Amino acid sequence: MSHVLSFEPPGAMPDPADSRFLMARGVEKVWPNGTVALERLNLNVGRGELVSLLGPSGCGKSTLLKMFAGLEPPSAGMLRWNGQPALAQSCKMAMVFQEATLMPWATIEENVRLPLSLAGVSKNVSTPQVMQALLAVGLENFLHARPRELSGGMQMRAALARALVIEPDLLLMDEPFGALDEFTRHKLDADIRALWARRNLTVLFVTHSIYEAVWLSSRVIVMGARPGRVIADIQIDGPKERDASFRTTPTFIRQVAELSTLLEQASGGTHD
Ligand SMILES: Nc1ncnc2c1ncn2[C@@H]1O[C@H](COP(=O)(O)OP(=O)(O)OP(=O)(O)O)[C@@H](O)[C@H]1O
Ligand SMILES: [Mg+2]
Repeated sequence: MSHVLSFEPPGAMPDPADSRFLMARGVEKVWPNGTVALERLNLNVGRGELVSLLGPSGCGKSTLLKMFAGLEPPSAGMLRWNGQPALAQSCKMAMVFQEATLMPWATIEENVRLPLSLAGVSKNVSTPQVMQALLAVGLENFLHARPRELSGGMQMRAALARALVIEPDLLLMDEPFGALDEFTRHKLDADIRALWARRNLTVLFVTHSIYEAVWLSSRVIVMGARPGRVIADIQIDGPKERDASFRTTPTFIRQVAELSTLLEQASGGTHD
């Protein structure tokens, strides 16, 4: 376990490139209406890490994810993907939101195929890739179903398959399971960890659930509000292979308690 409350200046540490797969240095985001969403934010995410972002509502988690997705530029500071200044040249990225955002008129197969169709990949080539993505999330028997015929958890699995179909190096997830019941959320958390363990995926995962963050992650970043910045960086000491029993271990309980305290401080602004 480690607390990191301050961060090294650029280039000060002998840091291997893989430990800076995602890098934010002195990042600020001021929205056009003057809202300062992020200020002096520093963060490294290593290749193959599964990192969760926790923080009070409005602290800029989604803003940070959008910037890492290349959807929003920072107002100041520097972002790097795999050492490169532009995401497109450095890695393949997929993003999953809280809503599954499937096309209601299209089948699950067509929904999952969408990113490949948009990239101009022919059906011959994309069909086995779509099948593989559906197999990865256990939806191989729902090819011809429409989204409305699927439960909320299954729709989220389809959204995950649509993200996986491009074989991303980087998966950005913004409260993907926030609207699901706890049992389904646990199952999908287990799916994410299994997928992450099987592939060389780097995952940045936003959640409001401390339990989910601890169970899922190799590291948890706590962000403070007004304006958003990193206030703690906690290594999760759990085993690589995790199942439900991890939730009852002293390690899990200790780290949940530690993060609860930090989150309370983050919400109360005592770090200001
Ligand atoms: N497009 C936008 N234009 C103006 N302000 C915005 C925009 N998007 C977000 N904000 C503001 O930026 C701040 C950070 O918002 P953001 O959505 O990143 O927070 P969050 O941590 O994801 O919150 P939540 O946990 O509720 O999802 C908030 O004050 C929000 O109102
Ligand atoms: Mg958000």
